Amino acid sequence: MAWAEWIRTVEVEPSLYAADFSRLGEQIDQLLQAGARVFHYDVGDGHFVEPIIIGPIVLQSIGGLIHDGGGRVDVHLMIETPERHFRAFREAGGDSVTFHYEAVDDVAAIAAAAREHGLGVGVALKPQTRVEEVAEAAIDADVDLVLCMSIEPGFSGQRFMPEALERLRRLRDLLPEPIQLQVDGGVNRENIQQARGAGANLLVAATAVFGQGDPALAYRGLADASV
Ligand code: DX5
Ligand code: ZN
Repeated sequence: MAWAEWIRTVEVEPSLYAADFSRLGEQIDQLLQAGARVFHYDVGDGHFVEPIIIGPIVLQSIGGLIHDGGGRVDVHLMIETPERHFRAFREAGGDSVTFHYEAVDDVAAIAAAAREHGLGVGVALKPQTRVEEVAEAAIDADVDLVLCMSIEPGFSGQRFMPEALERLRRLRDLLPEPIQLQVDGGVNRENIQQARGAGANLLVAATAVFGQGDPALAYRGLADASV
């Protein structure tokens, strides 16, 4: 699944991490109606990151709903040995998987394994990881996207690290145009334009969407502020 074929130039991606899981389907439906197209699905294993978040079983319940509404599922794997789980996430409804640079030895081999399952592929980097190293590996592996974390991965609800803006600019300079640039962590109405201006076109937001009274309205506000 090639990202370039189905994203609009800029996508605000609601991250389901902060959804109300007792009303997950209803909230996804509201967001689809508000225009959301790409849903960010965070997975944590309790090793690579502290929390155990959600896995393929929850995705099985919502993958059909998202696809029926014209949406896509962007899976962010904050886990060790991500390649072991590609099949399960594909079968559960995942369209693309992003694994962490820090979690693998051979980015190109892991990216190729994801593609074998018909998945789009991204590589993510933590705030302390050198952007040049990741850009080189991303180009070599011909990934669809690079995910620049603007928080330490693990928990939703943290503050955006301002130094991420410079890292985004450097990545955008280093990466060829077809590679999408994603930012994740603390994105909100106040900083979304700066993140966009720094070159990110995939803007992930959990708290800024679901932490508000009306997630659909909050999504629209972010989408309008990001163009
Ligand atoms: C956490 C996840 C993020 C998280 C973002 O490490 O990767 O996607 O959901 O949450 P907010 O937008 O609240 O920072
Ligand atoms: Zn994420």
